[in-house]
Amino acid sequence: MKRSITKAILPAAGLGTRFLPATKASPKEMMPIIDKPLIQYAVEEAISCGIEEFVVITGKYKRAIEDHFDSAYELEEKLRSSGKKKLLEEINKLSHINFAYIRQRVALGLGHAILCAKPFVKDEPFVVILSDDVIDPDYPVLRDMIRVYDELKCPIVALEEVPKTEVSRYGIVDGTLDGEVFRIKDLVEKPKPGSAPSNLAIIGRYILTPDIFDVLEKQKPGAGGEIQLTDALRELLNRRVIYGYLTKGNRYDAGDKLGYLKATVDFALRNEEFGGLFKDYLVQKLKS
Ligand code: G1P
Repeated sequence: MKRSITKAILPAAGLGTRFLPATKASPKEMMPIIDKPLIQYAVEEAISCGIEEFVVITGKYKRAIEDHFDSAYELEEKLRSSGKKKLLEEINKLSHINFAYIRQRVALGLGHAILCAKPFVKDEPFVVILSDDVIDPDYPVLRDMIRVYDELKCPIVALEEVPKTEVSRYGIVDGTLDGEVFRIKDLVEKPKPGSAPSNLAIIGRYILTPDIFDVLEKQKPGAGGEIQLTDALRELLNRRVIYGYLTKGNRYDAGDKLGYLKATVDFALRNEEFGGLFKDYLVQKLKS
């Protein structure tokens, strides 16, 4: 059976200001958790949910992303001749995947970045993954979202309940639970504390339909002077039903220093090679 959704957009043109100076000349999407860049976690998660093609929206100082997913002849030769088979397999494991790159010339916001992918997506539904939202690989919410999309054929955003003090960092939805999904009544990008309709935050996984592009083409700048995807979804709500799907399992905001550290610690504790040793180290450290 042909899959309903095979394409993913990975916006990666943001300036990464929260991680300066690390992100001055290198992409935040390339920051590693242990030994793998954030964007590779996002790609592997999508592949595990049946996605086959990727378009990365890039900008200035983002070339390392293209190099990362390209072949590396010299390095491969070196690993081959020195018998490092496992490492060779590791760096080649995504070599069968198709990547396209579209450059967003000016960082005008997430909504504008998505609009840049219109020629790639054409008239198919697609997923959007924000790499700095790292999701526990054991609970890939996208898989559930695709299953729900196949049934309801409507746009779906991933949701997480966040503390009330953090609502102004997110797109927040108002909605009512209908079975396993929320039927969305309203969306607000980065509401001021006290004016948020709920504490249900949009996190970086979306299933969108191509009619979002018509809206994005006319979308005026919103929060932070940027063209916001949340505002476009709010507009789309006048034309069709949009659902929200609550994530299970952990989600880490790896675009934030504390979130990044939590992701690193949790992934390190689960690491087959040194998770036990790392745990011993932490236990000792916390005792002292
Ligand atoms: C973006 C979206 C926001 C969403 C968030 C999830 O914001 O605009 O609606 O809640 O991602 O991480 P950003 O983090 O790029 O400011």
